[in-house]
Amino acid sequence: MESTPSFEERIVSQQRAGDGAYLAAQWDRYSAKHFLQLCGLVSALATADDAPASGTRRKVRVLDYGCSSGAVFRSLEYHLGDRIDFSFVGIDVDRRALGFILAKMPGVELYEADAIRLSELLDETLITADIAVVFQCCYALAGQDTDQILKGLSRVAPTVVVADHIDNCFGVESSVMTLRDAADRVYEATCHPFAHLLAEAGYTNVCVLPATPWKGLTGFIVASRNPLPPCTQLEEHIAEAAQPEFAEAANKRHAIRKAAPAAAPVNSVSPSIDEALDEIAARRCRTVSVYGDRPFVEAFRTAVNATMADVDTVWFSGSFADVEHGARVLDRTVLSSECVVVGGPLARLYHPRLLRLMARTGTVRPVFPVAIRFSRGSRRTTGTRSTNDGCSCSRGKPWR
Ligand SMILES: C[S@@+](CC[C@H](N)C(=O)[O-])C[C@H]1O[C@@H](n2cnc3c(N)ncnc32)[C@H](O)[C@@H]1O
Repeated sequence: MESTPSFEERIVSQQRAGDGAYLAAQWDRYSAKHFLQLCGLVSALATADDAPASGTRRKVRVLDYGCSSGAVFRSLEYHLGDRIDFSFVGIDVDRRALGFILAKMPGVELYEADAIRLSELLDETLITADIAVVFQCCYALAGQDTDQILKGLSRVAPTVVVADHIDNCFGVESSVMTLRDAADRVYEATCHPFAHLLAEAGYTNVCVLPATPWKGLTGFIVASRNPLPPCTQLEEHIAEAAQPEFAEAANKRHAIRKAAPAAAPVNSVSPSIDEALDEIAARRCRTVSVYGDRPFVEAFRTAVNATMADVDTVWFSGSFADVEHGARVLDRTVLSSECVVVGGPLARLYHPRLLRLMARTGTVRPVFPVAIRFSRGSRRTTGTRSTNDGCSCSRGKPWR
């Protein structure tokens, strides 16, 4: 009897050969029309409830299944981040894509899964979202996988947005259809009976919204266990977001922010050495890797010796001059300590290097950046995940 291939065996074929240029290209598609339309939809769904207290942004957690480079997250944050306080969960089978997102948006919670693994993952791990998105992913999958994914997502989010081929939406089984894109090119594509699958998954309200046809996407299907806004209202939001004014307004907001270098970004923090020591003391860490230049490590060690003499430090630096003075070049032994402090003028460079190393080795340690303008997301994410030490996605822990 043939045994079912393991998750590792199943995903081998999903890892792409060559370099990661496809991810950079996808990441840069964040303001393409369909992404803008998705922003319109998410905005409509998010604002359907009562308005948040004045001066605060609504909190919305979005899960993207088949998230690839994270372009959906980038688009939502860029275009709606002034109104909505997003948090993100990403799931994909492409390991390089997950590493790419981790470097770009360290605050995103990431998991490695295919359709079969998704249900195991959800048995092991509490994953929640307000809105799940499956954007240009199902058209390349078998009907059974699509069914499993939608059933899995219904355990996670009360509302789901599927951006795919909607042409067989009200059918009863997946079928290959002949379609035409906006440039009148004919192609054959798998089209799933989404309305049927979503109803089977437990979603009671469905709205189907056609969009400019593109390979992999001829429209959006919004499904929810909660009442949905009228379809016409969703359509209006989609159409509005596709107008040049929508993207222009976001560009203007970002240009203004860039033009004001003196003002720290709203969500930036500048943790001091003392704050890092508070975190280390609170976590009772006894071994600390310090990743920074010589003046920083000397300042840090002086502060440690003054208040926490039983803490051992190991120094890492990317500078040869520092190596001559006893620093180690970054390698996986940086993760042998219970936590890592990153500081000094090159901290912005060292921080993503450290995150990439964690991603490569599947080992996570709390990281305390001590430098100006670290985003709160990066500090909080790495700093509060001490319980995930050494985690591996196959045990259902976040992918980092
Ligand atoms: C065409 S890309 C779409 C990416 C992204 N949603 C976007 O539009 O930018 C499809 C993504 O789905 C992922 N994928 C394919 N099959 C999958 C599966 N069975 N489970 C999870 N992810 C899958 C691929 O690795 C890829 O990143």
